[in-house]
Amino acid sequence: MCGIVAAVADRNIVSVLLQGLRRLEYRGYDSAGLALVDGTGLRRLRAVGRVAELAAQAEASRAEGRTGIAHTRWATHGVPCERNAHPHVSGGLAVVHNGIIENHEALRARLKSEGYVFTSDTDTEVVAHLIDHELKRTPDLFAATRAAIAQLQGAYALAVLREAEPERVIVAREGSPLLLGLSAEGNYAASDASALLQVTRRIVYLENGDCAELTRTGHRVTRVDGSPVTRPETETYLSADAVELGPYRHYMQKEIFEQPTALANTLEMLGAARSVQPGLFGARCEETLKEIGQVLIIACGTSHHAGLVARYWIEALAGVPCNVEVASEYRYRESVADPRTLVVTLSQSGETADTLAALQHAKSLGMRHTLCICNVPESSLVRENDLRFITRAGPEIGVASTKAFTTQLAALYLLTLILAKLRGRLSESTEAAELQHLRHLPMAVSRALELEPRIREWAERFAMKQDALFLGRGRHYPIALEGALKLKEITYIHAEAYPAGELKHGPLALVDKDMPVIAVAPNDALLEKLKSNLQEVRARGGELYVFADADSEIAETAGVHLLRLPEHYGQLSALLHVVPLQLLAYHVALVRGTDVDKPRNLAKSVTVE
Ligand code: M6R
Repeated sequence: MCGIVAAVADRNIVSVLLQGLRRLEYRGYDSAGLALVDGTGLRRLRAVGRVAELAAQAEASRAEGRTGIAHTRWATHGVPCERNAHPHVSGGLAVVHNGIIENHEALRARLKSEGYVFTSDTDTEVVAHLIDHELKRTPDLFAATRAAIAQLQGAYALAVLREAEPERVIVAREGSPLLLGLSAEGNYAASDASALLQVTRRIVYLENGDCAELTRTGHRVTRVDGSPVTRPETETYLSADAVELGPYRHYMQKEIFEQPTALANTLEMLGAARSVQPGLFGARCEETLKEIGQVLIIACGTSHHAGLVARYWIEALAGVPCNVEVASEYRYRESVADPRTLVVTLSQSGETADTLAALQHAKSLGMRHTLCICNVPESSLVRENDLRFITRAGPEIGVASTKAFTTQLAALYLLTLILAKLRGRLSESTEAAELQHLRHLPMAVSRALELEPRIREWAERFAMKQDALFLGRGRHYPIALEGALKLKEITYIHAEAYPAGELKHGPLALVDKDMPVIAVAPNDALLEKLKSNLQEVRARGGELYVFADADSEIAETAGVHLLRLPEHYGQLSALLHVVPLQLLAYHVALVRGTDVDKPRNLAKSVTVE
């Protein structure tokens, strides 16, 4: 989703802005732009498509400036085109914006009646004109920006600069991520820290409702009403290497293969312990978990699928009722709230607007026990929860989530074990055995990755297909959902997932020789049932691609293609079975030549509703 970089320094900052935008490309965007204040005044460059286009324009026009703002736009209001690309200007000022201004229509009408002329379809242009309008009352850009944003409804991260005040940039945050980067050579702002690693590791995270002024030598943070606040400076944990592609062709490929390490890092805190400590989720975890009577998991997309797997674990192993909700639905549903609920939010980014809003909604209903599992320690979500577990997957850049999913599952399994233990459902010996099993996971995932050459062969055949059906049962049904999501997201092949028992209740009508059916078939208690479902497919001429375990009694016959995972992994087998599905999607995308890391229309961090 949109990305912002801003800089005010004692040198030409064009390369800093462009490099920052490149680092934010993973978020997803369709146009890019920047505005600079140089010796000759305010200068704006915009390009549809990739940051490389913008960089070429900057080079051709020898763009220079010591103060600048830059943006990647993911279209919400108005199609992707140069006219709608940011920055938007009014008078001598320029604005870039992430988020959605909900009252933009009313503001637009008012500003038009004041004589402002709009040149784009965006909600952002309203902000530019509104600040210009306020500047007529107060000549100070910081004060005028605050006065303007006091009139905005919705979510925003903003950066503003003005020709007449060439040595400062004003930024503000409400609902969309924004942070400051500090250095001796200048000061910066960006949507995430990876954009600023090139110049600094000293980061100040802004809170919702914060505004800040950046100059070459300092920064000042206030609330929207102008009252000063102090936000702590921290050193970002991100390493520049972690966001490099290295020897890989795509970030998704890198991230799939990083899963053994990501899991090992996430589980590192277990050390050699024979028991799992509630403290892993925060100081008050034990006390809270003893108070709760049920679990409500809220998330979107792949994170939601992790929640669906966890429901099987939490109910079966801990005996605690568990519901899983899609965040965008939950926030608007009239649900029955129980204050004895543990609300668990899952998010790779910690910035997903729907998940954040759903959490606020749950809190507003009186559910005060909250826990999040997140991959970004400084994210908004982490700050909103008393209890938290930070997965250590490292930065996930590919839009298709992979290592974040498996590390979320590892964290959810730990939570399940703790819940089970606190309810007296976990003997000491079982607990020690479960922890051993978890520690062995990185090795087991490495072995699942060894299936890649066979999957590559399958991918050649899949690449010609228009549709695909994924089947699973029990805790592997969410894995089928995840396999289908991966395939449609990056290959644009229409894919659907069903619990295999549902096949005869409708989707079987779709099955013919052109519809590949992918079955997740681990050697568990439901395997025999699943095999009957697969027979139903074969009887209709459907071609089966089955992911089984080493010891599953399934034979490769005509129309039944079989790949065996190296071992059956009990409750945790969902973590292994997702790996070949990730690889399948990746290799089909390669054959089809799609943009693996930046699939069309999608954004990595979905910071708007
Ligand atoms: O950052 P989050 O985990 O909150 O993101 C949720 C979804 O937007 C995300 O999982 C999305 O579905 C991925 N692109 C799936 O690969």
